[in-house]
Amino acid sequence: MTTFIVANWKMNPLTRKEAEELFSFFKKTTDKRGKVIFCPPFPYLHLGENLNLGAQNCFPERKGSFTGEVSPYMLKDLGCDYVIIGHSERRSVLGEDFFFVKRKVETSINAGLTPILCVGEEKREGTDASGEIKEQIRSALERVSFKEIIIAYEPVFAIGTGSACPIEVAAERRFLIEDILSQMKIEKDSVPILYGGSVNAENAKGYLLEGGFQGLLVGGASLEKEEFTKIIESVF
Ligand code: PGA
Repeated sequence: MTTFIVANWKMNPLTRKEAEELFSFFKKTTDKRGKVIFCPPFPYLHLGENLNLGAQNCFPERKGSFTGEVSPYMLKDLGCDYVIIGHSERRSVLGEDFFFVKRKVETSINAGLTPILCVGEEKREGTDASGEIKEQIRSALERVSFKEIIIAYEPVFAIGTGSACPIEVAAERRFLIEDILSQMKIEKDSVPILYGGSVNAENAKGYLLEGGFQGLLVGGASLEKEEFTKIIESVF
């Protein structure tokens, strides 16, 4: 099975020049190193030509009067093959609900993109993690037919905090996700499950080797040339 490393640049870097520099650096280092997928902000997508590209978001309609939004069909036409959907920052900051996330999954599949569906519990302790994750997956994937989909387990408490989820906990959640998929009659081997949340060069490999994940979703560290290169080298 393919190993995926997804670089989520979020709303960074601030200038086109910096984006060009990052892309030209990574064009050299990621050459032939498996599936590294770059998800820059929309205005920089065209600079990533010849790399595996994903968007960080899309709107759940093909075209029309949706001021300020971007269609998954446009993304496909621009050279994207992937799109991140349901990231916790969009769920919390932009108020995206389960149904909106599901519609994005469906529309992006119809457009020929592979959704990278983010799921994960809010708090480190004291929450019903399995209930939360189950609801996120069921609501997004029930009665959706797809050829390819990726799930990223991203516990919200670990995102951007520098305090990653302990590998044993993450591995339990991976089993849980596999269980949810099998209850939904989705062949678990057909869905790569990635870990995301404060991944760095030191902890990256552990999530694959000990945690059994098929890849990583990397935020902050994917903007640092040396660190991200080390992550790629440790994994592939
Ligand atoms: P982080 O972000 O690696 O900076 O924690 C991960 C993400 O939000 O996708």
